[in-house]
Amino acid sequence: MFFKKTIRDVDVEDKIILVRTDYNVPLVPIEAGELEHETVVINQSGDQQQQIANDLRIRASLPTIKYLLEHQAAKIILMSHLGRPDGHRDKSFSLGIVAEKLAELLPGTVVNFVDDVSGPEVEMAVEDLPNGGILLLENLRFSAEEEANSEEYAREIVDSTHAELFVQDGFAVVHRAHASTDAITHIIPAVAGLLLEKEVKTLTQITANPEHPFVVIIGGAKVADKQPLIDKFRNLADTIYVGGKIAADGYQSTDVKVIVAEDFDEDSDGAKLDIGPVSTSKLAELLQPAKTVLWNGVLGKVEDAAYATSSTIVAKLLGENQDITSVICGGDTAGFVENLCAEDPELRFSLVSTGGGAALELLSGQALPGVDGLEDL
Ligand code: 3PG
Repeated sequence: MFFKKTIRDVDVEDKIILVRTDYNVPLVPIEAGELEHETVVINQSGDQQQQIANDLRIRASLPTIKYLLEHQAAKIILMSHLGRPDGHRDKSFSLGIVAEKLAELLPGTVVNFVDDVSGPEVEMAVEDLPNGGILLLENLRFSAEEEANSEEYAREIVDSTHAELFVQDGFAVVHRAHASTDAITHIIPAVAGLLLEKEVKTLTQITANPEHPFVVIIGGAKVADKQPLIDKFRNLADTIYVGGKIAADGYQSTDVKVIVAEDFDEDSDGAKLDIGPVSTSKLAELLQPAKTVLWNGVLGKVEDAAYATSSTIVAKLLGENQDITSVICGGDTAGFVENLCAEDPELRFSLVSTGGGAALELLSGQALPGVDGLEDL
């Protein structure tokens, strides 16, 4: 299922470990008067104060970080991209905000941040970092060399940090062949982190050997994104249920396995913004006997509570039934489910994937450059 070495297969003790995470988290501006919430994180390095709208990707990186700390890694250097600054040093995409959040999530651990990815400032920051400390580098995409998959860029990072081992744990970015996902694997020993292993194992399992009945729920807006998934699972799943905007826009299929939502909740202008009660009941019935469910794409306009009804019913059905292997993927769907979990911590899913494009590419059978370069078992 996963034939790459992980951090469990190598000696990390006393080593400087360079970990690629995906901290490409959604940021939203903080409105005046909105600062009472205790988990609010303020990014003062940008022009505008911002907060992290969903910290799933940061929390998902903790098992690997904690493993490395528990196994006495000397220093942990984290690197990531944030957004698409296109090679420009745009401070509104600074990872400083993530360092603050990490420090909050790892009390008692030194979490430092440095304003660069290589060079004298980074060398000094690594030297100053106490053993057992964490250093987060600045946004990799502040240089165009990252997306150009430049080996020189990767080498500069390795040289400046004195890293002895590279750990790929940014599952959400492994579909990109970039300096920090591909080139770097040619420079120092490269293994997988625990998040990457868990995501690839679970998502591969669902395509290779799912327990039946297996229901795939597809929602969201773009048919072009979802059709490869529908094609891939046509032979594997027992039922593919299509809701969301693609159903509202008239998606049709002649395949008897593919069921498309038939009624919709509409606003006063007649816009179809959620699947309706008949479709929701039918989907709930399909889910009752299911043993495996893959859900990609919300079923309605969930940012408006009035049109989140069907998605909420489905999420609760899955999250309350531990006999179902439930895999949630896609940024909107994962974010929606995460918000529900925050309200109701009893809800449990087998995997809420941190990967949008990466999960879709893996599920539809495409190669992942960020995984391919890691050491084989
Ligand atoms: C994502 O959010 O899908 C990943 O972080 C990759 O980001 P990208 O699409 O900008 O490469």
